[in-house]
Amino acid sequence: MKKIIIYASKYGSSTKYAAEIGKALDYPVYSYQDKQLSSTITDAGEIIFVAAVHISKPIALKKLVELCPPNMNVTFVAVGLNDYNLAEKRTPVEESITKEFAANNIKVNNIYYLRGSLDMKRMSLLEKTMFKKFYKDAKGKSDNQKNDGDQFILEAYENPDFSDVKGLENIIQQIKTDSAS
Ligand SMILES: Cc1cc2nc3c(=O)[nH]c(=O)nc-3n(C[C@H](O)[C@H](O)[C@H](O)COP(=O)(O)O)c2cc1C
Repeated sequence: MKKIIIYASKYGSSTKYAAEIGKALDYPVYSYQDKQLSSTITDAGEIIFVAAVHISKPIALKKLVELCPPNMNVTFVAVGLNDYNLAEKRTPVEESITKEFAANNIKVNNIYYLRGSLDMKRMSLLEKTMFKKFYKDAKGKSDNQKNDGDQFILEAYENPDFSDVKGLENIIQQIKTDSAS
């Protein structure tokens, strides 16, 4: 069964993770915007999507689902800055993924999570300005005024790189085991 990896990335972490998974498992890797994709996808038996999470939802999720023929075996790797060891951080992402695929009658076999990074150099001027403003606002609040979003902005601004080599190795191992079963 032919297996392929498709990524959707804005700042490069998902691209990097997709390339590493592809190298380790010897699967071809494509951007979701790749022109060759439609011809390749028709004879794939399994797709591993690797996509950046923005506001608790993978970017381009609708387009990823649209790419997927019915009855496809799907594995999803969601890449975000949150600590996905915490169930409450995983739940909204998991719900957005399963709901969107289910609407197209596709079952997602497994969802894995990896932490990524934020590259200020790759942000547009507007994104940079907004990010700095959110940081300044969050920083100015007292501890009991800060909500989850403020905590997230503070953490992301002060430590924008959570790239996770160990987590990646575990997922590669897990995907190998899933494929063998
Ligand atoms: C507008 C915006 C919203 C984001 N929302 C989330 C989020 O809800 N949860 C999360 O874990 N990370 C969030 N992030 C962080 C990205 O998921 C993180 O930077 C990830 O590494 C991006 O993957 P990429 O490098 O492949 O683009 C957000 C980043 C941006 C710019």
